[in-house]
Amino acid sequence: MSKQTELIKRRYNRIAPVFNTMDNMIRSSWRREMLAKAEGEVLEVGIGTGANLPFYPSKVTHVTGIDFSPKMIKLAQKEAEKAPVPVKLIEMDAEELDFPDASFDTVVTACVFCSVPDPIQGLKEIKRVLKPGGKILMLEHMRSDNTALGKLMDAANPLIVRIWGANINRKTMENIQVAGLKVKQEKQLMGSIRRELTLK
Ligand SMILES: C[S@@+](CC[C@H](N)C(=O)[O-])C[C@H]1O[C@@H](n2cnc3c(N)ncnc32)[C@H](O)[C@@H]1O
Repeated sequence: MSKQTELIKRRYNRIAPVFNTMDNMIRSSWRREMLAKAEGEVLEVGIGTGANLPFYPSKVTHVTGIDFSPKMIKLAQKEAEKAPVPVKLIEMDAEELDFPDASFDTVVTACVFCSVPDPIQGLKEIKRVLKPGGKILMLEHMRSDNTALGKLMDAANPLIVRIWGANINRKTMENIQVAGLKVKQEKQLMGSIRRELTLK
């Protein structure tokens, strides 16, 4: 694990106890709507405290949730016990997924690619473990397409990343392309800052 990864992991371990109270980034309705598209064998990357778990539909056979923060995983365990589908949680780095190629029908991420230290490597790993014909569902916040707002986000980012561990100015659309993935559907949820994406 790189030094940067260790640093971000420590930050998430630190904020885990207050994460649910402070995090209002994603509405439950957005989670429910996106997860209605999930099916089969699912990998959720950066599962955090398990906020998505109540919303998985019955066409999902099993969810494997990974996160590099043991403290976040511990909180997700409580959600996993009440989840409508079977769940297994594993401590793992998104940049080095310990799964064979083509293992999952659906890969889910929610507010994760703002934090993964090397987002392109993380996205390449997702591509590798996705079965041919599978789908990637993402609910992510990213740098605004608005020039002035984007610059403001760049200026505020160093402070935010220090406190929270998340970058507010990630160019996620570009990262997806560089990782060799294609956006099939895009829905802007809050201007260009929060988006729901379906990739293949
Ligand atoms: C902002 S939280 C979002 C949590 C959850 N997905 C949600 O919707 O509430 C980001 C999560 O990604 C995890 N994370 C960031 N980088 C990671 C990496 N390289 N490998 C595994 N998990 C990572 C963090 O530990 C944290 O739990």
